[in-house]
Amino acid sequence: MSGPLPAHVAVNRAAWDEYAAGYVAPGERSWRVQPGAETWGVFGFAEAEVCMFPDDLAGKDAIELGCGTAYVSSWMARRGARVVGIDNSPKQLETARRLQAEHGLNFPLLLGNAETVPYPDASFDFAISEYGAVLWADPTSWVPEAARLLRPGGRIHVLTNSYLSFLTGPDEPDAPFGDRLVRPWFGPRQMIWKGETSVEFHLPPGDWIHLFRENGFEIEALLEPAAPADATTRYVYATGAWASQWPVETIWKVRKHG
Ligand SMILES: C[S@@+](CC[C@H](N)C(=O)[O-])C[C@H]1O[C@@H](n2cnc3c(N)ncnc32)[C@H](O)[C@@H]1O
Repeated sequence: MSGPLPAHVAVNRAAWDEYAAGYVAPGERSWRVQPGAETWGVFGFAEAEVCMFPDDLAGKDAIELGCGTAYVSSWMARRGARVVGIDNSPKQLETARRLQAEHGLNFPLLLGNAETVPYPDASFDFAISEYGAVLWADPTSWVPEAARLLRPGGRIHVLTNSYLSFLTGPDEPDAPFGDRLVRPWFGPRQMIWKGETSVEFHLPPGDWIHLFRENGFEIEALLEPAAPADATTRYVYATGAWASQWPVETIWKVRKHG
């Protein structure tokens, strides 16, 4: 859909064009990962453990909502899916396109807002987001849009910050999660970290369930994986000690009624 971008999408575009330089090297590393060796999230949970991809991805139409450097899209393409990636940041897509050329993997990469995707109804069997639209787009817009894009029986798998970790994180960006709640459960669903302009969306689990169900999805799984206490990560806000006690991340897997 054309027209002016919603305010949060416009500020997130500018912000992600700035963050993009920091995502080049991780994107390059992740593009080199081969099928079976994919890992997910802050602590690199193995695909075999969390099964972010459905078993039957080969030959299916898949879209990544907020693909960034598009390494998840590249993983799906290598698994035999027909892939489309959409992202709101021209700079992130610049990296994605360069890596596509370097790896000889071609699939459509669209500049756009995952809340309004320029594809017809029922174009896809699978939609995925790892810290993409699931965190940075308005769930009350992108979930109905994903419902429109998916065929009956199609699935969404998403990975994002756990609501518990969000409630324990001080307002400063990248401040480590604490061991007590620093913001209310019933707080605003949008978050702008201190000194930042970008807008994130954090929903409690009950709101996700309500939203998915009212858009015609059944919940297939909610995963809250633990990390070993000695696990390490490049993300300074999380530690293995914390992640061995509480879930840093939440994975939702939902299926559109067939
Ligand atoms: C953290 S990256 C996700 C990609 C990758 N999985 C990763 O972890 O690096 C977040 C991406 O979401 C994109 N994004 C933010 N809002 C979006 C929106 N409304 N529609 C599409 N993409 C969006 C950003 O431009 C950014 O590239």
